[in-house]
Amino acid sequence: MLRIATIGTSWITRQFALDAGSVAGLTIACAYSRDAGRAAEFAAEIGAAAASADLPGMLASPEVDAVYIASPNSAHFAQALAAIEAGKHVLVEKPATLTAAEFGELCAAATAHRVVVLEAMRTAYDPGLALVAAVLGELGVLRRASLRYCQRSSRYDQVLAGDRVNIFDPALGGGALNDIGYYCANAMVALFGEPRHVVGRWVTVPGGSDGAGTAIAVYPGLVVDLGWSKITASSLASEIEGELGFLTIDRIHSPRVLRLTRLDGTTQTHEVPGPEFTLAHGIQRFVDLCRSGGGAGADHARTLGALRVLEAIRASAQAGPGS
Ligand SMILES: NC(=O)c1ccc[n+]([C@@H]2O[C@H](COP(=O)([O-])OP(=O)(O)OC[C@H]3O[C@@H](n4cnc5c(N)ncnc54)[C@H](OP(=O)(O)O)[C@@H]3O)[C@@H](O)[C@H]2O)c1
Repeated sequence: MLRIATIGTSWITRQFALDAGSVAGLTIACAYSRDAGRAAEFAAEIGAAAASADLPGMLASPEVDAVYIASPNSAHFAQALAAIEAGKHVLVEKPATLTAAEFGELCAAATAHRVVVLEAMRTAYDPGLALVAAVLGELGVLRRASLRYCQRSSRYDQVLAGDRVNIFDPALGGGALNDIGYYCANAMVALFGEPRHVVGRWVTVPGGSDGAGTAIAVYPGLVVDLGWSKITASSLASEIEGELGFLTIDRIHSPRVLRLTRLDGTTQTHEVPGPEFTLAHGIQRFVDLCRSGGGAGADHARTLGALRVLEAIRASAQAGPGS
């Protein structure tokens, strides 16, 4: 049984606890919060065996084998490194770190300490994305794709009211690109590999983070545009175009309905069963890796590639003309 501790007390950790319940071989050993009262309350709520407000103490505990990190993005690297150095396996929320170099350091530390580090990127482990990859062969030579995730955040209203909100706070690694744009970048790297070249532009919101943006990624013979927003909504689906047809995907972050249209106009619809939102597949991958003692090379390569795409978009948008 893998005994996992949690870091973070927001809804995503609640969802983690819920979805972890469907994964065999995992139990929640401890819930950590910076506040002792909240730790105790949260531990009771998610059914954790213990609560802690002492992070080094929790990481030193022989009752804990692994840690799930769901703190703001800027806290991931230091918390993950401390956990790895304490000999714990680490499942860290997306984006795992703010730079590829930091994630590379975590991977090296995990190898040195004989533990597993994995980014909890739910899209990468979603059976819907695997089905997208399987259907791509029917499209002929791939030439163009548009991958989008635009959802207006209720917390944007707080930003407009002048409040400081973690998810829009650049100091905490917030912003729309790091949040939902990352699903598009990660899916792109999972499906097509790492692009040769990326340019990006974005619009900023009060407080300085990006609220929405567009990027173009260039591959040999293929161009992909990525669109993301936390300040507008959109009904546009994602689409991948080949010389023999196109594939429309309802949600690239969690594909459930795929519609293939061939050049002759015939169509074929694939439906992916299962809940729209689940962390269970990524948790299962983590448990399997911990059991087998490693083998996360392909997972790490995808995470590193996707983080490099984020960095390239960020650099390009910051260097480009402001909006
Ligand atoms: N996989 C998904 O679908 C999904 C969905 C949503 C979010 N996420 C990821 O989950 C992570 C957390 O996102 P969130 O929106 O839940 O973040 P959040 O609410 O800002 O913070 C999460 C938790 O971290 C602690 N925390 C807050 N501010 C902190 C700070 N300045 N330093 C250290 N700890 C702090 C808080 O717990 P205590 O105060 O109790 O310590 C809080 O409950 C992010 O990496 C995000 O990208 C993933």
